[in-house]
Amino acid sequence: MASSSFPGRGDFSLRPGSPELFAPAATEESAPWESWRSKRALQQPSYPDPEALDSVLAELRRQPPLVFAGEVDDLRTNLAAASRGEAFVLTGGDCAETFSEATADHLRLKIQTLLQMAVVLTYGASLPVIKIGRIAGQYAKPRSSDMETRGDVTLPSYRGDAVNSFEFTPESRIPDPTRLLDLYHHAASTLNLIRAFTRGGYADLRLVHHWNRGFTANPAYARYESLAEEIHRAVKFLEAAGVSSVAQMRSVDLFSSHEALLLDYESAMTRIDSRTGDPYNTSGHFLWIGERTRGVDDAHVELLAHVRNPIGVKLGPTTSIDDMRRLVDRLNPEGEEGRLTFITRMGADKIRHALPPLLEAQARDGRPVTWVTDPMHGNTITSSTGYKTRRFETIMDEVTGFFEAHREAGTVPGGIHVELTGDDVTEVLGGSEQLDEEALRDRYETLVDPRLNHQQSLEMAFQVAEYLKKE
Ligand code: PEP
Ligand code: CO
Repeated sequence: MASSSFPGRGDFSLRPGSPELFAPAATEESAPWESWRSKRALQQPSYPDPEALDSVLAELRRQPPLVFAGEVDDLRTNLAAASRGEAFVLTGGDCAETFSEATADHLRLKIQTLLQMAVVLTYGASLPVIKIGRIAGQYAKPRSSDMETRGDVTLPSYRGDAVNSFEFTPESRIPDPTRLLDLYHHAASTLNLIRAFTRGGYADLRLVHHWNRGFTANPAYARYESLAEEIHRAVKFLEAAGVSSVAQMRSVDLFSSHEALLLDYESAMTRIDSRTGDPYNTSGHFLWIGERTRGVDDAHVELLAHVRNPIGVKLGPTTSIDDMRRLVDRLNPEGEEGRLTFITRMGADKIRHALPPLLEAQARDGRPVTWVTDPMHGNTITSSTGYKTRRFETIMDEVTGFFEAHREAGTVPGGIHVELTGDDVTEVLGGSEQLDEEALRDRYETLVDPRLNHQQSLEMAFQVAEYLKKE
């Protein structure tokens, strides 16, 4: 894309040999990717003061990028490998991150959980695992209703800390654009911590493996002991063979992702890479479009059609073959490997009949897609005690159905995308510790969707590793 006349041109590529100059992006709303403004934009906050929003956006355009073109390109290459069955994707993190939980302790536990899962999956798949957090930007939520009623009070719904506050008062629920700056700063400090943890020896394979031994020491998980023992022997073998001396054992790549929901923010964070002239969304490595906003003629698809990042689209059970083909035409017309991931969230009771026709149609089309399962969002229920929850066994049933559907269609199951936390919350029912409806009262902390807790996350990894061993 020609960019020489574009005012926001600047080098942020951080590619080998690049001058590493940070320059601001658009100074006005004239960039090619701003074409989304003429489309239908669903799920956007209505800010009472448009001028306040404008000054926030101007400020955001002056901020340095959060991620860099070279990293984004690496992830696209990795996702291409996953589409061919040469790598496996693990995406995990909160449904909605909150500003108050962007602390070192919460983040450490979440990152630790992802790394632990990744070790187990790497062993099961005998493949590299691409680690992506729903982290450092997952602060905005689509809602099924614009308003929330409690008793006889009706107020605007909570749309994530990037928009308004969870507190149920009229003032807190008014969308506040300065929260977009808070979003940027929390994402920046979170990424800083991720970069330190994943480069500084904390992600050392031997250390992560040691944490996993703690998991199988709990009698509830004894049935995973033999797999844990196999992994133990494999790590020991690598060490004995001298692999520990290579840098890969000490550091990992952990990419950031979030739903690119707030179009003003996402487009203010989009910058031209001066080396290639291509626009990149620098708010995160991987961005996805949600089930509610994936209309092919709508604004979210329009914005992400313009950027070079690898992108995802959630596909629910009502997706037709035609919807899917039109999304591929718009988002990956040339069929570039690694560019487009479909994240299916069908529901355990639907996946076995809803997914195979889509897989077969896409295989006939020939343009590659990375297929990932989100076994969470099609399986949300309300407990008899009134909590929004999910059942671990139903979640695993959707994962099983995902593998079965791919086996039937002869296509590649490329990864999993889950909502989890490193904390010992009680939000999802079931699992080996048999969390029951009463237990939901103990530590139900999510502001939006229920998450797998630390133990349930590891249990999922062990189960998926067993499927992968059989693949
Ligand atoms: C989510 O991932 O939190 C989400 C809202 O998902 P979906 O768009 O699939 O409903
Ligand atoms: Co969710």
